[in-house]
Amino acid sequence: MWLVGPGGWPRPRTGIPKTACRRLESPGRSFDERTDPRRGTLALGRILCVANQKGGVGKTTTAVNLAVALAKSGSRTLLIDLDPQCNATSGLGLTPTSRHPLVSRQPLRESLCDTRTPNLQLLPGSRSFQDVEVLARGTAGEAATLEQHLLSGMNAYDFVLIDCPPSLGPLTQTALSAATEVLMPIQCEYFAMEGLTQMIHVIRDVMQRKPGRLEFGGILLTMYDASLELTREVDEEVREFFGDIVFDTVIPRDVAVSEAPSHGCSVIDYAPRARGTRAYIELCMEVLDRE
Ligand SMILES: Nc1ncnc2c1ncn2[C@@H]1O[C@H](COP(=O)(O)OP(=O)(O)O)[C@@H](O)[C@H]1O
Ligand SMILES: [Mg+2]
Repeated sequence: MWLVGPGGWPRPRTGIPKTACRRLESPGRSFDERTDPRRGTLALGRILCVANQKGGVGKTTTAVNLAVALAKSGSRTLLIDLDPQCNATSGLGLTPTSRHPLVSRQPLRESLCDTRTPNLQLLPGSRSFQDVEVLARGTAGEAATLEQHLLSGMNAYDFVLIDCPPSLGPLTQTALSAATEVLMPIQCEYFAMEGLTQMIHVIRDVMQRKPGRLEFGGILLTMYDASLELTREVDEEVREFFGDIVFDTVIPRDVAVSEAPSHGCSVIDYAPRARGTRAYIELCMEVLDRE
């Protein structure tokens, strides 16, 4: 359902209180308890699902640059490219796999690649993800198997970032089920919040199926241009609506950010002094602080 906000642009009625959506408390065991290494189970770090069903909002750019910044800060980091377009893979100068382990059910670790950034590994994307969308359509059992398979490769990292496709299909839902946090980039434009209601319903479904595990980690304003009235309006409305889950850091529109992928690297390596680089390093610090 859509309302028109005071700024004159539509806002969704999500039914989610401004700040209450960060964590739904679990009535049962917490995720940390289940994964405590001292109890001999899998030790998992934070798993951030970078998702928004809209394309072109800065998901891949954020996944790549945040992953590089986290790795440079000394965190063992894995970036998973879950988009059949494989932009995160090519953006880091690497090649997509022909048949993805999620499709072939091979161990994920056999497909992991080192990147030019120490501490950062990549699970490359694959066009065969289209098979996953078909495979997983419908059955809950199939979705659970995919999620388990995805989780099996994640236990050696402090951070796992998952770059999702621009849809709410099985791949995004699998990523959300496996994740501990959702990071949602929003482009500062008129239709920024369009479709968000649907996205938030899917996130809430996963939160309710896995109580206590998935947190709404944060909303990130991207392609920010402070000189535009519209950008300031979107900023104000999003912060008013979502409260403190919106990151203080905003990512400015910066040509260096869009040039970096064609050089097969992050903006941090491509243009260390760029405004975009400073912003992604600040975002990294905010993510580390929010632990
Ligand atoms: N901060 C930014 N400044 C300038 N261009 C950007 C910025 N963030 C993303 N872009 C560009 O916008 C386009 C869409 O970004 P992308 O990360 O691929 O979005 P998504 O993964 O959500 O589809 C890309 O061409 C990218 O280079
Ligand atoms: Mg993308």
